[in-house]
Amino acid sequence: MTESAPARIFPDRTEACRILAAEVAELVRSINNAGRPAVLGLATGRTPLPFYAELIRLHQAGELSFANVISFNLDEYLGLSHGHPESYRTFMERELFSHVDMRPENINIPNGNPDDISARCAAYEKAIRDAGGIDFQLLGIGRTGHIGFNEPGSPRDSRTRQVELDPITREDAAPSFGGLEHVPTHAISMGCGTILEARKIALLAWGDGKASIVKEALTGPITDQVSASFLQEHPDATFYLDAEAGSEL
Ligand code: PGA
Repeated sequence: MTESAPARIFPDRTEACRILAAEVAELVRSINNAGRPAVLGLATGRTPLPFYAELIRLHQAGELSFANVISFNLDEYLGLSHGHPESYRTFMERELFSHVDMRPENINIPNGNPDDISARCAAYEKAIRDAGGIDFQLLGIGRTGHIGFNEPGSPRDSRTRQVELDPITREDAAPSFGGLEHVPTHAISMGCGTILEARKIALLAWGDGKASIVKEALTGPITDQVSASFLQEHPDATFYLDAEAGSEL
C-alpha cells in the first residue's frame, strides 16, 4: 500500500457508507459555511447505492442540504433514448436527486446524445472549471480497473471525451440491459486528468469480485492499463472497502 492512497477496510459496505457520508456531509457544510457551493463529482453503478441511501437519510434527518451543491457526474452512455432506465441521468434521478433538495440547474451529467461531441466535452470541462473545480469526487472501480469509463489505455492526462467501452465492462452491464446486444458500445467520460484534479477522492469497492483489481490499483504499477492506479499519486485519495474487497491487501 502506498502512503498517498490509503485503504480503509470496514466490516461491511453499510458501515463504510455511514462513515463516508458523514465525512461528505461535514465537507459540504464547511464549504457552504465558507460562503461557496460545494462541488461534488458523482458516480453510478451498483457500488454507490448504499452511499446515496445514506446521503438521503442524512438529508431527511435535517443534517445535509444539497441546496448549495453543484454536481458533475463522471460519465454517460452514448446513444440511449431520453429516459432510458439504464441511462445515468435516469439512475441519478431515481437513486439520489429525486429524494433531496438539489437544484436542477446545479446538476451536470454528460449529454448522451450530443450533436457535437467534442464541443460538448469541452463545455463540460469548462463548467467544472467555472464551478471552481471538484471538491469531492466519488468513484467506483470496474473489473478493468477503470475509474469513470477510463478503460485500459486511457492516458493520465485524458479529459472528458468519447470512449469505447471495454468488452469486460459491457459484459458486466449486460444483465441490467437484458443482454449484451443492448449495451452501448461507447460513452462520454471525464478523463483521468479531469478526475485527478478533484481535491479529495473516495473510491468505493465491495465484494470478493473487486479484491484483485483493488489490490492491483493500490499496490501494482502506476499504469494506464489500470486507470485507478493513478490514484496512488493523488495527495488525498482514499479507498473505502468492505472486508471482502480488501481481502487481498
Ligand atoms: P459497479 O461498477 O459499481 O456496478 O460495480 C463500478 C464501475 O464500473 O466503476
